[in-house]
Amino acid sequence: MNILIIGSGGRESAFAYKLSKSPKLNQLFIAPGNAGTSQYGQNVNLKVTDFDGIASFAVENEIDMVLVGPEEPLVKGIHDYFLHRQDVKHIPVIGPQQKGAQLEGSKDFSKEFMLRHQIPTAAYKSFNKSNLEEGLSYLETQKLPIVLKADGLAAGKGVLICETLEEAKTELTAMIADAKFGDASSVVVIEEFLKGIELSVFVLTDGDSYKVLPSAKDYKRIGEGDTGLNTGGMGSISPVPFADQTFLSKVEERIIKPTIEGLKKDEILYKGFIFIGLMNVDGEPYVIEYNVRMGDPETESVLPRIESDLVDLLEGVAKGDLGSRSYTVNPKTAVTVVLVSGGYPGEYDAGMEIMNIENVEDSIVFHAGTKEIDGKVVTAGGRVLAVTTLQDNLFDALQQATADAGRIFFERMYFRKDIGFDLL
Ligand code: AMP
Ligand code: GLY
Repeated sequence: MNILIIGSGGRESAFAYKLSKSPKLNQLFIAPGNAGTSQYGQNVNLKVTDFDGIASFAVENEIDMVLVGPEEPLVKGIHDYFLHRQDVKHIPVIGPQQKGAQLEGSKDFSKEFMLRHQIPTAAYKSFNKSNLEEGLSYLETQKLPIVLKADGLAAGKGVLICETLEEAKTELTAMIADAKFGDASSVVVIEEFLKGIELSVFVLTDGDSYKVLPSAKDYKRIGEGDTGLNTGGMGSISPVPFADQTFLSKVEERIIKPTIEGLKKDEILYKGFIFIGLMNVDGEPYVIEYNVRMGDPETESVLPRIESDLVDLLEGVAKGDLGSRSYTVNPKTAVTVVLVSGGYPGEYDAGMEIMNIENVEDSIVFHAGTKEIDGKVVTAGGRVLAVTTLQDNLFDALQQATADAGRIFFERMYFRKDIGFDLL
């Protein structure tokens, strides 16, 4: 099979790494990719939202499958575009059509979906310009802290946890009346605050059957001890020690099955990954959010644990016979440590030469924000590399990943040395 991956981050590097191991793979392309993806396939200089360009490339290069990494092209309808264009409609796209992608593209849509299908989630109400006053009064009746969520995609910044009523009122007004997050906050979901510990569960589905992928936990804050600003993700671990069999079977019965059934009842044909952000509240799972793609940096911990051929599983998604494909998971623990540019998630410099990756022997180094200039690999983003190791237990994996992260060097490099230590 010839496969085209859409995206350029650590997640797409992990996909490229995993797909490249398959005996079913013929040629692999990554659009646009990064300095690391070129070791697994050929990078293609196309933007992830250039649907015309992507489709034409797919025709010219006899692509048999398109795997979409990030949410933006899905929410903007890349799958629908392929279905509606004669010369590419036979090429399966892994990732939902626009309607299904609303599970991530609209918080209001996803909350209504959960309510309709009795999927446990925080209590909520949605407000817009026409009922802003009602929203402000509603806030007075709610417990603190309270969560405000911009309905649309806001580059991961659209969720605010307000500690005081005054703050909540100011923010609600800023979001709706002053378009704090542009169009994305013209509708705001006000949601009950759930107190617990978060984890991510991933599902691959052909629209009917599904496989539950390894669960993972990501570390979003920039600082050690989970302090400081939110980032795209500073590290991840898989499996999650507190997500034991009892908890995971609650997740499957109360959340995964009703989600797949709900999509069918709503006549949303969904082929792709579902990322369920969960809160474990005293042993009971609640959905915080759906994403319609894999997580980053969770993918870097999850995929190395999947022993089965991922091309075979994706073929099962495309053909609708995923249920009959073999699927096994490695019981070892994966830890991923993300190396970022100094200053991230604020301003940072790019163009720093990255050295000593070759010194890493017991981890996989996935590239994220990197590019190659004159034969040198340099930084080209906030999250630069993701270092993943697989070991017999969490303690060994933490030590190995941290040690290997420290073997790499670029100017102003930073990484957290405490990824997963809270769970030991
Ligand atoms: P989201 O963009 O939906 O992933 O939300 C960002 C983060 O806000 C989540 O990862 C949680 O840490 C937090 N969060 C979202 N909703 C809630 C909630 N209802 N209760 C507590 N924390 C929440
Ligand atoms: N790691 C969280 C995300 O990918 O959205």
